[in-house]
Amino acid sequence: MIKTMNCTRCKTKAVLKLPRHNAAFCKDCFNSFIHDQVHKAIRSQEMFAKNDHLLVAVSGGKDSLALWNILLKLGYKTDALYVNLGIGDYSESSQEKVVHFSETVAVGYGAALHVHTVERHEGAGIRELAMMAHRPTCSTCGTIKRYQFNHAAIQHGYDVMATGHNLDDEAARLLGNVLHWQHEYLEKQGPSLPASVDGFAKKVKPLYRLTERELAAYCVLNKIDYVVEECPMAPGARTLLYKEVLNRLETESPGTKQMFYWGFLEKSRPAGTPTTIMEKDRSALHPCSLCSQPTTAEICSYCRLMARAKTSTAR
Ligand code: AMP
Ligand code: FES
Ligand code: ZN
Repeated sequence: MIKTMNCTRCKTKAVLKLPRHNAAFCKDCFNSFIHDQVHKAIRSQEMFAKNDHLLVAVSGGKDSLALWNILLKLGYKTDALYVNLGIGDYSESSQEKVVHFSETVAVGYGAALHVHTVERHEGAGIRELAMMAHRPTCSTCGTIKRYQFNHAAIQHGYDVMATGHNLDDEAARLLGNVLHWQHEYLEKQGPSLPASVDGFAKKVKPLYRLTERELAAYCVLNKIDYVVEECPMAPGARTLLYKEVLNRLETESPGTKQMFYWGFLEKSRPAGTPTTIMEKDRSALHPCSLCSQPTTAEICSYCRLMARAKTSTAR
């Protein structure tokens, strides 16, 4: 016989069990739980204030669409940016989901959607650009996305740029950084990165307290239609392996992921102080000689990438 679960908060029938919190929730209490976790993240990491104007990078996947919805519901002025990477059907269906959410939900809050189309602005989709520049597709994609996220935030005058990275993403990244003792990355890994110099927007990850499974459930329960398939370029096999390992540990011992990542934040930054930019990093930054975005080199990685792609076409 299947035992029915009751909601830990209101005692009505629960729809979801959360072993890591030793709890079960009905739909309304689950939504409150999700909103509370995001609110806690924003406050404890000093991400932004009530009257800040936010830009959220929305990919069409569950995490970032959930994030846009949550921020709007919590009363933050939040517009979105979608970057169409030119990966055939995958990019087209992702854009459809983002546009659908924007036109059916976000518009009711007066929120706007910006779309950056890589084929139009950079001249080709990321697969072609990667081939022309002789670089792996995922790192080409990462360089373009990081650049365009920051560019849009600065150009349109947003106070903060938010992404949908969740607890699984951050714990997997931490595991990779620890396994390889990447000191420099560990210093900078955190859910709130201040704007170090003019030309760099503040970057935040308000979903770092929530798991992939919880965000998928949030979308399903709230009828948020998202792209289920992953990018066909497949994210790094390493990241997937780290996520698998962490999921196995989580099944055996619920709460492991949060203990690992939140523990790192507490120990490395006592009293919840947000990540600070080291003076050495700040002083190493200056405007790119081609586009003026801050960089530690003469020419930023985006402009170098675009120059390599152009040289290859010219040959
Ligand atoms: P990923 O690196 O694909 O796991 O994505 C991490 C976060 O980056 C997502 O939650 C989004 O906030 C953002 N993002 C990824 N791809 C896009 C895209 N094509 N357009 C806008 N934002 C994106
Ligand atoms: Fe960038 Fe797939 S999303 S390569
Ligand atoms: Zn540049």
